[in-house]
Order: sequence, then C-alpha cells, then structure tokens
Amino acid sequence: MEEILVEVKNISKNYAGVKALDKVDMVIRKGEVRCLVGENGSGKSTLIKVIAGVENPDEGEIIIRGIPHKHIRAIEAIREGIQVIYQDLSLFPNLTVAENISLNYMVEKDRKIINWNEVKNIAQNALREIGEEIDLTDTVGNLSMAKRQTVAICRALIQDARLIIMDEPTTALTRDDVDHLFSVIKKLKSKGISILFVTHKLSEIFQISDVVTILRDGKKVGDYKTEDLDNEKLTLLMTGKKIEYINYVYEESIKYKTLLRVENLTRKGHFKNITLDLKEGEILGITGLVGSGRTELALSIFGLNPADSGKIYVNEKLVNIKSPKDAKSLGISYLPEDRLTQGLFLSQSIENNITVTVLNKVLNKFFLIDKAKKKDMSQFWIKNVDIKTPSMELLARNLSGGNQQKVVLAKWLATDPKIFILDGPTIGIDVASKSNIYKIIKKLASEGMGIIIISDEIPEVLRNCNRIIVMRNGRIIKKIDKVNQITEDELLNIVIGKEFEGVSL
Ligand SMILES: Nc1ncnc2c1ncn2[C@@H]1O[C@H](COP(=O)(O)OP(=O)(O)OP(=O)(O)O)[C@@H](O)[C@H]1O
Ligand SMILES: [Mg+2]
Repeated sequence: MEEILVEVKNISKNYAGVKALDKVDMVIRKGEVRCLVGENGSGKSTLIKVIAGVENPDEGEIIIRGIPHKHIRAIEAIREGIQVIYQDLSLFPNLTVAENISLNYMVEKDRKIINWNEVKNIAQNALREIGEEIDLTDTVGNLSMAKRQTVAICRALIQDARLIIMDEPTTALTRDDVDHLFSVIKKLKSKGISILFVTHKLSEIFQISDVVTILRDGKKVGDYKTEDLDNEKLTLLMTGKKIEYINYVYEESIKYKTLLRVENLTRKGHFKNITLDLKEGEILGITGLVGSGRTELALSIFGLNPADSGKIYVNEKLVNIKSPKDAKSLGISYLPEDRLTQGLFLSQSIENNITVTVLNKVLNKFFLIDKAKKKDMSQFWIKNVDIKTPSMELLARNLSGGNQQKVVLAKWLATDPKIFILDGPTIGIDVASKSNIYKIIKKLASEGMGIIIISDEIPEVLRNCNRIIVMRNGRIIKKIDKVNQITEDELLNIVIGKEFEGVSL
C-alpha cells in the first residue's frame, strides 16, 4: 500500500436547506488516479472546495501527511501541495505561456524583482518534466483548450504539487485532447503525483482511474477498484437504480412533412456543400470531431453566422435567415454548446430562468403574469429534467454545475419550437438525468418536433437518433440512414477516420 497523502474524515457541509456533504471519508494515496463520481448535486465540487480550503466544513477534519486540520486555508493547502485546476483554468489570457506558468510561483516566493530568463527557465523545466512542447512566448489566449490545460498543469507542478485535482476537465475538450490529457496524467502519476478527477463520462473513468469514490446525495456510497466495476455496476452505485436505454424508433410516413431542408450550404473556411433534411418527428444526429464544422453549421442555420452560399428551406419555403430573430420567427431554436456563459442569469431564481423565454405562455386574461401558472410551468420542468434543488426560488448560482446545465436546457425546451437544434445536450449531466432528458427529447419528437442532436458522444447519437450524419473537415463524409445497422465501434471508426473495411452503409 502506498503512503496516504490526504485523508478526509467525517466531513459535513450544509448550505441553507441542503446537506451538500454528510459525514464523508476519503483517503488519497500517493501516485494514484482517483475518480470522484456521482450524480449532479451529489457534493463532488463541494468536497473539492473543502480539500482546497476554499470552503470550510461544518464538521470533520482533513489530515494531510499525518497532520489534522479542522479548517485549512487555501494558501496552506497550496503549501501542502494541493492544487486544483478549475474548469475555467484561471489563466491570464493576455500573458504568455512562460508568465502564466511561473508567476504564481514568483509571487509565492515573494520575488520583488522578476528576472525574465528565470521565468522562462522555470516554465521550460516544467514543460520538459511532462514531455510537452509549447512556445513559451505564445499568448495563452491564442492556445487551444488542450494546451491551456497543459499550462495550468505546469503551473501546478512548479508549485510542488503532490495532489492535482481536476473538476470535470474534459467537458470542453475534443476527443484527441482528452487522450492527450490522459497521457499527461499518466506521466504525473509515474512521478508519484496523485490525481483526483471528476467526470460524468463513464468511459473516461475506466480509461484513467485506479480507484473510484462514489457520492450520492452528499453521502459516500463507497470506494471501489476500477477493475472491479463495469458500466452497469457503476451506474447502479451512483444512482441507486438500473437505467435502461430504448432506441428511438421512427416510422416513416408520407404524412410527415419536411420541416427543414438545407442545400449546398457553404461558409468558407467552416463547411462546404452541406445538404440535409429533417422531417417532422425525426431526431437527426450530427457527429464528428470538434472542429468538423458541426457547430458552425448549426450557427448558420440559426442565423448567427449566415452562410456564404446555398439554400435553406423551412416548411418547403425558401428562407433567408440573417439573424437568430429570423430563425426564431420560423420556429427554430438552438441550444448552444457553451450555454453556461450564454444562457443563464446567475443572480436570478431557477423559476425566473426557466420561464424567461416563455412569459407569453403564463399570462392571464388581463395579459399580466399569472404567478400560479409560472410556478406550475417551472415545477413541471424541474421535475422533468431532474433539477436537484430544495426550491425553485434558489438562485441559479447556488446550483451545482450540472443542475445549472439542466436549467438552461429546460428554458429552451419550454419554448416548444418546431425545429430544435441541440448542441451537446448532455454536457456535464449525470447518467440518470441524461436518460430522463433523452426521454423528453424522444417524446417531443414523437409529437412532431424535428430535432437535431449535435454530439461527439457516440452512444448518445446511436441511442437517440433515427438518422446520423458524420462530418469531417467541414464536409459530410457519411450519412447513416439505418441506425440499427451500425455498432458503436463502427461509428467511432468512421468519426475518427479509421473506417472498417467492408462495412456497407
Ligand atoms: N453556495 C451554495 N448555496 C446553496 N447551495 C449550494 C451552494 N453550493 C452548492 N450548493 C448545493 O450543494 C449541493 C452539492 O453541490 P456540488 O456543486 O458539490 O455538486 P456536484 O456533485 O459537483 O454536482 P455537478 O455534477 O452538477 O457538478 C447541491 O445541491 C448544490 O445545489
Ligand atoms: Mg460540480
């Protein structure tokens, strides 16, 4: 058994009305990769904040290298080698790679005079330590997400990190970037550094972790060796229930009208000659690597970045969509990929956030807002997308990350569009809530809505769509009309460009 680095003992933390953590114990050993998992709102981020000294627990203690702390301050946690890489990475976008890696260290060492050669040397050594190459003079704002993450990891390293904690680091990463991050994590592990990692993607848990700690409703369910778990066991332990997926069945009928038709749509540098259509009741999946042009295509259909050439027909009529306002008036809605920055009023209640786009539906006969109707609508969506909250009056900022995502999703679903484009509908959402969201999407489609799901999660498109389009480098490279004739592996190979020979579609 490796030595214990950090021990969390009997930690509880309450927020008004919510027991975010309830007597949680956890042991982190030297050089292990531990995944911390559980449903949205189960207490993962809160536990991380307690370990990092950002939140004080109501009871319990944290023992670091044998020394117990009732309340650890953030600066003490850093001195003990505990480094948290938050999702926003907390980098300075206007500064160079070298500055971002080295400045915290310089400040910590109380250097009054900064020697730029030293700044560069320190940064170079950190990069070398994990075998990475990034131009030290590049401005961080110009780097890809993956490289920014490497910078954040290097910054942690030079502050003598013993434990690096990452709270959902892969949500904004492409598939290649995730593989790259995992190879960096393996290098850190081989140097004896411990990693605590949060993710909702089950495949990542199996790919990267040695051990898994599961939380449910603020309580610890248990610690498990990853090798003793599989998808089904893990899901059962996290949610307490068995989750079944039913594929979407779409019975073609001449009765169904074509809602959307896109012909030879081109936006230079982004996508070229895209032709597709969407009928009433269909769920069309668009997959491909991030950067394949999928999101750009959706933005063009929604009028945010209009195309250079090509035609769009809505209800068989040629339309000219120049702005989201045009798109909305034609019955098109778009759930953006990056919705937390675009879609949520943090200082407003959950209720106000859900109903803001549909206030016209909750008016009484005097055209005033009917408070009871507004509450009913909000309650309906809280239940349907599974928002975990003690009350609809709670401010959005006090929800867990995944529950914030669900509020934005509910807000758009409530608008009841004719054509709904969902970009990454379940980013950051736990397995159980995902399955509920899929049920809602299928129900809406079966009632006649036309839905497009853009996603890089292969099982997501396979289980929920009746047709799939694969994009690469701005072009459609494959159209799959019969979803039940292709397996997950085959689809993945098409997406990443390693098609199986002999597969006919
Ligand atoms: N400042 C706060 N005020 C009130 N409640 C809060 C606050 N911060 C967190 N909570 C509540 O504590 C619970 C645990 O939240 P936490 O963010 O730890 O969940 P999580 O496991 O990280 O979920 P997710 O997977 O959605 O990120 C949630 O019910 C959340 O609403
Ligand atoms: Mg969280």
